[in-house]
Amino acid sequence: MLADKRILLIIGGGIAAYKALDLIRRLREHGARVTPVLTRAGEEFVTPLSVSALAAQKVYRDLFDLTDEAEMGHIELSRAADLVVVAPATADLMGKMASGLAGDLATTLLLATDKRVLIAPSMNVRMWEHPATQRNLAQLQADGVMVVGPGVGPMACGEFGPGRMAEVPEIVAAIGAALGDGPLKGRHVLVTSGPTHEPIDPVRYIANRSSGAQGAALAGALRDLGARVSFVTGPASVPAPMGVDVIAVETAQQMADAVAAALPADAAVFAAAVADWRVANAAGQKMKKDGTGRPPMLEFAENPDILARVAQMGEGRPRLVVGFAAETETVVDHATAKRARKGCDWIVANDVSPETGIMGGAENAVMLITDQGAESWPRLPKAEVARRLALRIADALA
Ligand code: C5P
Repeated sequence: MLADKRILLIIGGGIAAYKALDLIRRLREHGARVTPVLTRAGEEFVTPLSVSALAAQKVYRDLFDLTDEAEMGHIELSRAADLVVVAPATADLMGKMASGLAGDLATTLLLATDKRVLIAPSMNVRMWEHPATQRNLAQLQADGVMVVGPGVGPMACGEFGPGRMAEVPEIVAAIGAALGDGPLKGRHVLVTSGPTHEPIDPVRYIANRSSGAQGAALAGALRDLGARVSFVTGPASVPAPMGVDVIAVETAQQMADAVAAALPADAAVFAAAVADWRVANAAGQKMKKDGTGRPPMLEFAENPDILARVAQMGEGRPRLVVGFAAETETVVDHATAKRARKGCDWIVANDVSPETGIMGGAENAVMLITDQGAESWPRLPKAEVARRLALRIADALA
């Protein structure tokens, strides 16, 4: 997907600049040509020599380098690329970009370019959460700048939280998506994910153990193949992937409404673990013990079956409707029956018995049930299951 793509990579001055070296390698492995630009601050973290050696290209550093202007001016440099990537994008660079400042080579290129720009922010958690940075981020997104990361985790400064630059494979995937000529280009795919929370009272709810990991991985894999993804997610414990349209919901009813609003779609994948029942007599105030020792009686009402509704909707039905079946016994029989009952095209079935470690774990072993029968896939990381499934979806829509 990246073969012969030209990427102008601006390396800002942050500790994550070391990851930019690996990014250059991975991009070149994918066949991309990387033209590196190193800011003054970036030079404090990585050397021009290592950058140009890995890129096998001259590294551009100075706006007023007359030789460069004679060979290739800043306007041309900013336009000869297919995509401009800023990694790491520091708080300072983001602020300058958001305000349209152009005091050095990197910011001049960013202002002069007519190509799409992808940034990978990296900074201390307080700097990331500062209203000024969040304001700049919102401005950049409004200007059409794409953003990958930041991730949550331990940081070089010793703090913990959002601010870590996205990992290199994630940046490579985002670059692929930004260049957007995968097999799902121009397609809209809807994905539901995560558990639902069904309130008992304002502070308590009924939930399930779904982490949302498989749904998030699938949304990311569909994005990587160029799809526009509407990602309707309950309160999951893994973050939504970047570069998808996130619609966050809590209850099954909200999920059903969000799905209806997101249609039409070319394909819809229902990976959410939706509660079958909601509490019909949820209390408006926090329930209290009444001193009698009698437990409260909860009454339940059935939730809408979102998958069945969409699979059986007739006009406006997505061409491909995929359901998931989490079972703990006789997986194929149950899943095959479920496919027929729900009216969907495929069922991705898995065994979620506690001993499999699948629910909440990093791996999945699935059976794909289609009109051709059941296919058993080997146990694979959830990201790989997602990638294979996304490719199958692309095939089905081709
Ligand atoms: O019936 P069961 O919950 O086992 O079916 C699982 C499939 O149905 C999943 O794809 C799930 O996302 C979907 N589902 C739904 N709405 C419900 C219940 C399940 O979309 N209320």
